Amino acid sequence: MQKIIILDFGSQTTQLIGRRVRELDTFCEILPYNKFPLDDADVIGVILSGSPFSVNDPEAFRANLRPILGRYPLLGICYGAQYISHAIGGKVESAPTREYGRQHLRSLDTTSPLLAGISEHSQVWMSHGDTITALPEGFRRIASTETVANAAFQFMEQQVWGVQFHPEVFHTEQGTRLLENFVCGICGSRREWSAASFVDTTVAELRQQLGSDSVILGLSGGVDSSVAAVLISRAIGDRLTCIFVDHGMMRKDEATQVMADYKALGLNVRAVDASRLFFRDLKGVTDPERKRKIIGRDFVQVFTDEAKKVKGARWLAQGTIYPDRIESLNITGKVIKSHHNVGGLPDTLQLQLCEPLRWLFKDEVRRVGRQLSMPDHLIDRHPFPGPGLAVRILGEVTPERVRILQEADDIFIRSLREHTDEHGHTLYSQVWQAGAILLATVRSVGVMGDERTYEHPIALRAVTSTDAMTADWARLPYDFLARVSNEIINRVHGVNRVCYDISSKPPATIEWE
Ligand code: XMP
Repeated sequence: MQKIIILDFGSQTTQLIGRRVRELDTFCEILPYNKFPLDDADVIGVILSGSPFSVNDPEAFRANLRPILGRYPLLGICYGAQYISHAIGGKVESAPTREYGRQHLRSLDTTSPLLAGISEHSQVWMSHGDTITALPEGFRRIASTETVANAAFQFMEQQVWGVQFHPEVFHTEQGTRLLENFVCGICGSRREWSAASFVDTTVAELRQQLGSDSVILGLSGGVDSSVAAVLISRAIGDRLTCIFVDHGMMRKDEATQVMADYKALGLNVRAVDASRLFFRDLKGVTDPERKRKIIGRDFVQVFTDEAKKVKGARWLAQGTIYPDRIESLNITGKVIKSHHNVGGLPDTLQLQLCEPLRWLFKDEVRRVGRQLSMPDHLIDRHPFPGPGLAVRILGEVTPERVRILQEADDIFIRSLREHTDEHGHTLYSQVWQAGAILLATVRSVGVMGDERTYEHPIALRAVTSTDAMTADWARLPYDFLARVSNEIINRVHGVNRVCYDISSKPPATIEWE
């Protein structure tokens, strides 16, 4: 399948470039700046990302452009554009006034294939202290802004383009059009990447990869593992055995509900109720990291025991998605893993890994799920931490505390699903993630009827985000919060106060523990 290579120089928006290219139904891979694949016949074009560095910094990331120039269409974005100019003999200098943010295009050369359909005065977003003061020989300026002379350039002979602004960000008004001009017009993408084509090719590949082998997969109730399971079962049917470990710290009724969903989807799934083991091992434990370690260890143990009962299994399937795997660069140039949702699954099982969603972004996983006719409530489900409500109870985790939190959380989540705005969208669909936290280490005084109460507070948390790396607290309507607070305090015994968490990430995190 045709693909665009995006070389990452450490910009915060590199993943966004990838998302935009995929939205143009074109497959892309994000690779570290120095890992250009020399022998990949599917490559149709290359994009160089931005970077926190100046090209003049001694430690700036430098890529070898020789295998790219003249062979593939090349688009540099921000640092990428500066790097191309710098590498080919142009001049990049620190701008006299550091113009960040909104600017407007002018003096457009609309004959340039990159700028077809882009209008004069269109708003663009800048984010770099440097500017290209002299273009290399043969390069032609194709757009400026009020303060940036060489806002965009081209060198037709070698199919090279550069833009000083960021077409991938929302604030660049015609950014998608510009990327479409590059990906579809200049690189000639046939727009082959779609949920339907992904399902067809992946099912065929899985049949080939797995042959007549059996596979096991750990289901969590979340969208990624569920979609992976349905996809694999399309390929190999009942030779996929799914294992659902119920640690007793799921949301209210969730374990029963997801099992019913899995059965309806025709999955061959075994549920293991291991809650007693988890509660026993968590007794007296208050430290968040110890809780996580114990839950992780117990999970591996239960999963391994169950997996051993599946005769002849050769593969372990996981719902790992692309952002879990992208090697992102930090400013020191070290490659770091951003985050991963699969914690140390058993090596002892000696199984090979099968990760059919490894190239997908979250929104694409959801599109694939819809393509597979999975129910909306399973596909649109908010992310939920592996250790479950255990990391949403401050202090010791007990069955009674889990029950209290389940009740409060259920009222909050149900209300989010029921409340719609004037466009008919639910509040649930407008937040990235939401949940209740039981502050079991805190007690405060209240009054109910004529009685003094001395009970725990519940904190409500709802955030907006695109990838959980950064997040902001959701501006939920006051009236809505008032209703939820009343219902929780009136209905949930053991709670006499409700707070709303108004912290962003960073510096806070989404979860309290
Ligand atoms: P934080 O709290 O780090 O959370 O802002 C970011 C995202 O990760 C989820 N999360 C976890 N997921 N195991 C998981 O599988 C964990 O231990 C864990 N801790 C946090 C969190 O719900 C949010 O979506």
